[in-house]
Amino acid sequence: MRVPMIAGNWKMNTTVTEAVALVNEMRRGLDEIDNVDKVICPPFVSLATVRELIKESSIKLGAQNIYFEEKGAYTGEISPLMLADLCEFVIIGHSERRQYFNETGEMINKKVRAALRAGLKPILCIGERLEENEAGRTEEVVTEQLRSSLAGIDYPSGLIIAYEPVWAIGTGRAATGKQANETIGFIRQIISQKYGKKIAQDLRILYGGSVTADNTAEFMQQLEIDGALVGGASLKANEFLSIVKQTSEIKQVR
Ligand code: 13P
Repeated sequence: MRVPMIAGNWKMNTTVTEAVALVNEMRRGLDEIDNVDKVICPPFVSLATVRELIKESSIKLGAQNIYFEEKGAYTGEISPLMLADLCEFVIIGHSERRQYFNETGEMINKKVRAALRAGLKPILCIGERLEENEAGRTEEVVTEQLRSSLAGIDYPSGLIIAYEPVWAIGTGRAATGKQANETIGFIRQIISQKYGKKIAQDLRILYGGSVTADNTAEFMQQLEIDGALVGGASLKANEFLSIVKQTSEIKQVR
């Protein structure tokens, strides 16, 4: 049985002061919900402060990016060792990083390896662009993204995958539950071929892209979908709480 997970990707939003306020607003409510891994991923500069605020709670912490070298002359970068000291999860390969910061499959592979080596749990993001979707190339694209991101990795212990179709991110145009379930089922098959049935069955695969309190139930009712990576709606305490609560209730019944 896979424990569902809701992760909030705050992206480049909130000052430290605002991050503190947001955590204070949702900490108690989130802490009271069980049966779901609740992860928040604030900007790097707030990680240490937020960590202190949630340390007595069941809320978990993640970062939004990582560099693959352990230390050295890489001005401005954040290493796996620095993150492992602060948090449990790290988002890797988000489409915004692929698009605006030219992250390639090879770089993402190095980041996943570095994260796993440091004992961090990567939340690996994959997903097709609109034109690829319209050309019926979704399966081909996610297959290639999985191949390159996981190349040479024997046993991805702790890995989580987030299927985030690029056309659904920040657009208000979410995939349907059925569409997301099909692609996530396909992703699980690819993982099964590469790593075997047991690892595939245990692997958590999240959906991401315009998830809101209003459409959460549609996704969580799907058997292959183990939770969500939430952007915009994770910045509103009440909405995020509602997403987590609904997930707990729906997945518990299943
Ligand atoms: P939105 O929920 O704002 O569409 O963002 C999704 C996302 O990119 C999460 O990583």
